[in-house]
Amino acid sequence: MPLLPRVDEMYVDENRVGETLPGQDFGSRVELALAATNHLFNTRNSTRYVAQVLQGVNAVATKIDRTTRPFTGVGPAEMKARIGAVDLDQPLPDTAAALEELETVYLRDAIYFHDAKYAAHLNCPVVIPALVGEAILSAVNSSMDTWDQSAGATMIERRLIDWTAERLQLGAAADGVFTSGGSQSNLQALLIARNHAVAGLRQEPANAGLRLPAMLEKLRIFTSADSHFSIQKSASMLGMGFDAVISVPCADDHRMDPAALAEAMAETHDAGLVPTAVVATAGTTDFGAVDPLADLAALARAYGAWFHVDAAYGGGLMVSGRYRHLLEGARLADSVTVDFHKTFFQPVSSSALLVRDRAMLQHVTYYADYLNPESAALAEVPNQVDKSIQTTRRFDALKLWLTLRIMGADAIGALFDEAIDLAARVGSVLAADDDFELAAAPQLSTLVFRYRPRVAGSEPTDAVSDAHGRLSEDEADALNPAIRAAVFASGQAVVAGTKVAGRHYLKFTLLNAEATLGDVSSIIELLRRTGAQLLASDSASPSTSEVFG
Ligand SMILES: Cc1ncc(COP(=O)(O)O)c(C=O)c1O
Repeated sequence: MPLLPRVDEMYVDENRVGETLPGQDFGSRVELALAATNHLFNTRNSTRYVAQVLQGVNAVATKIDRTTRPFTGVGPAEMKARIGAVDLDQPLPDTAAALEELETVYLRDAIYFHDAKYAAHLNCPVVIPALVGEAILSAVNSSMDTWDQSAGATMIERRLIDWTAERLQLGAAADGVFTSGGSQSNLQALLIARNHAVAGLRQEPANAGLRLPAMLEKLRIFTSADSHFSIQKSASMLGMGFDAVISVPCADDHRMDPAALAEAMAETHDAGLVPTAVVATAGTTDFGAVDPLADLAALARAYGAWFHVDAAYGGGLMVSGRYRHLLEGARLADSVTVDFHKTFFQPVSSSALLVRDRAMLQHVTYYADYLNPESAALAEVPNQVDKSIQTTRRFDALKLWLTLRIMGADAIGALFDEAIDLAARVGSVLAADDDFELAAAPQLSTLVFRYRPRVAGSEPTDAVSDAHGRLSEDEADALNPAIRAAVFASGQAVVAGTKVAGRHYLKFTLLNAEATLGDVSSIIELLRRTGAQLLASDSASPSTSEVFG
């Protein structure tokens, strides 16, 4: 393996060093620029590129080899001080020195999602074929806006969009575009739904001459109380306001209740407002619930509303060997969000928005003379910028491409299936454990639960226990976030927290096919031990607010 040349060995063209313009002393600046060209990724520096990237890759591989827990437990104040002490105006002598420094400012204390004791948010361990793609796409640095910045990359992205749409059975007219994540995919879906509704309103004589803000006032979006907050945020960014989103109650299984949706849509319609979109979730963030898609699609259709399926989490079901049927109703959608960086085990970022009717993407088309003039569209030059709310955009599709070409879709589905099966087994363990309360049976790969043991020696209904001798709701509310913070600070495991009906719970999100029931059971034991210790010492962790607010 070629070694990284040190700065003093770097290539410098002797004929150009010291070149100056008459009467000007540019000598040192020219030398600096010449040395800087050694950092450009080009034909002359390809060996240097390989050597330096290998150093970086080796640093990560060594780190992964030696990682025995998901986190070190470092606090924000210490990291801020350590990073603040770096003099960014004083570069280090070489890559090796920068990587050595990186160990203390990042790698040593990062959160490692590949570790079996990481069970917190919707972060997945990533697959190696996608990492190969990541290295290639950032080095070639294609930009997905226009054909003249991407060429074949555009066709690869298009082919993957078609492949995804076929898996979702969206029909022959489907299309879509890669985005930076589920929030952006949802935003674009609602932008299209909004503009589609406004185009309809403009046809009505009563609205002649009305400006856009006046029309936006009438639009309403329906989504379940358990859906992702990006729906409200999108409505706000789209000028409709947070309160344009009507929160529809869920049944006990945390799936949107179609009867409640029917009632809410009828009320809205009768009030002279416009039911604009129904947003169903295929895999809610907390409970993994898949809404009753066919029932919701029928209601959306009855009111002429857009039907969007947020499958940011559940999208991986499309390649599942065992649970594909759960996503069946997505074929009825007008648009679908899929996050490949969740259940396709891709590195951040990789997401897509799919639409049933490719013409709908024109709601985000804008022709710019310098980039994508209308003449290019008429000449059918393939431009992805016409379909995107971004301009310069990463070639994230390459990661999925290499994943499918090296591993295959079934292998990805098998990884997700393992996580879903593990969650079911953990669900049985927690349900049978008297110290814990499971909020609901797992549906995909999350578990929402809390530590709420019987309180030895205390009288029922006293301050700390309820009528059944269990820790009271209020005590459990104080204790569970403290358990989470203490476990996080220990670095031995990372779990998430959430609220159910205003009460604090803990949450596992399992996406690691190599994690075993034994691994998760040992996290449960750690939570139990920590809870018992905190109860005995009667103190919440002081770091709770520092880390989790
Ligand atoms: C159901 C759902 N939709 C959307 C999102 C947002 O996705 P992203 O974080 O990629 O923006 C999430 C994130 O967890 C999610 O769970």
